[in-house]
Amino acid sequence: MTDERDAQGRRILPRTELAAQFQALGVQPGHTLIMHSSLKAVGDWIPGGVQAVMLALFDVLGADGTLMMPAQSSDNTDPAYWSAPPVPESWWPVIRAEMPPYDPAATPTRGLGALAEYFRTLPGVQRSNHPNLSFAARGKHAEYLVSEQPREAPFGNDSPLGRLVALGGYVLLMGVDHSSNTTLHLAEHRADWPSKRGIQQGAAVMRDGGRRWETVDEEIDYNADDFSALGAEYEQSIGYVPGRIGQAAARYLSAAPMVAFAAQWMNRHRE
Ligand SMILES: CC(C)(COP(=O)(O)OP(=O)(O)OC[C@H]1O[C@@H](n2cnc3c(N)ncnc32)[C@H](O)[C@@H]1OP(=O)(O)O)[C@@H](O)C(=O)NCCC(=O)NCCS
Repeated sequence: MTDERDAQGRRILPRTELAAQFQALGVQPGHTLIMHSSLKAVGDWIPGGVQAVMLALFDVLGADGTLMMPAQSSDNTDPAYWSAPPVPESWWPVIRAEMPPYDPAATPTRGLGALAEYFRTLPGVQRSNHPNLSFAARGKHAEYLVSEQPREAPFGNDSPLGRLVALGGYVLLMGVDHSSNTTLHLAEHRADWPSKRGIQQGAAVMRDGGRRWETVDEEIDYNADDFSALGAEYEQSIGYVPGRIGQAAARYLSAAPMVAFAAQWMNRHRE
């Protein structure tokens, strides 16, 4: 393997080397995992970019493995809650009337990175039916993982995340920390704290052959503000040392014990 750098100081990181690095991180044939990523954080130059990263992961997972990624479409939410950025209140009724209805084949992801957006378009990838918090999956357990996602508990026990945990699945964080670790939201369903509350959320959906703006009472007003601190404490508690994919810090953690720790942590720390 050549060590020569390009004009921007990057090494080359081809598919075979990426696959070896995923393996060194802990990914094994037949595993089921959810990945969250920053491709920029990988730093090195990958021939084939997003396609090569996916192929490298599939190479390691093999025919019995399953990859899931978030496929959230946060545009399709009630504009009254938007803060990054907020929009004028006079726009709210227009947005509720005009937002295209969720279509698992066509609705783009938002803010999840190039890998998640590419993955949802791949042949053989299935996507769950939640209008703004969906997941996409490919491989042996894909159908089981994404066939159900209750509107009132999109990250609950009977969601793709609950099923990932039930399957003994893993969380892969590539170049991002626990603030992107969506699986920790499952712990919010299993924990209790004084200010725990739900939220009324809206989305444009197709129902009975037509578009409509539908409002649902969700059990939890999900909040990831403390996930970085929580995740750091979890890693310390098990003596976990992150690995590397290219130049990026990468983590590969079994989901079930992490979620159990997270629920206890929330019971102790949240007010
Ligand atoms: C927001 C976020 C996606 C931004 O990450 P990012 O690395 O800047 O963006 P992407 O992953 O889309 O990667 C794009 C970058 O890949 C890099 N890239 C593109 N082609 C490449 C190649 N062939 N080889 C290597 N790198 C390449 C480029 O730096 C590109 O950035 P540019 O378009 O500005 O040139 C990331 O920080 C994050 O939060 N990810 C997790 C999201 C998530 O799952 N959240 C949980 C639900 S809330």
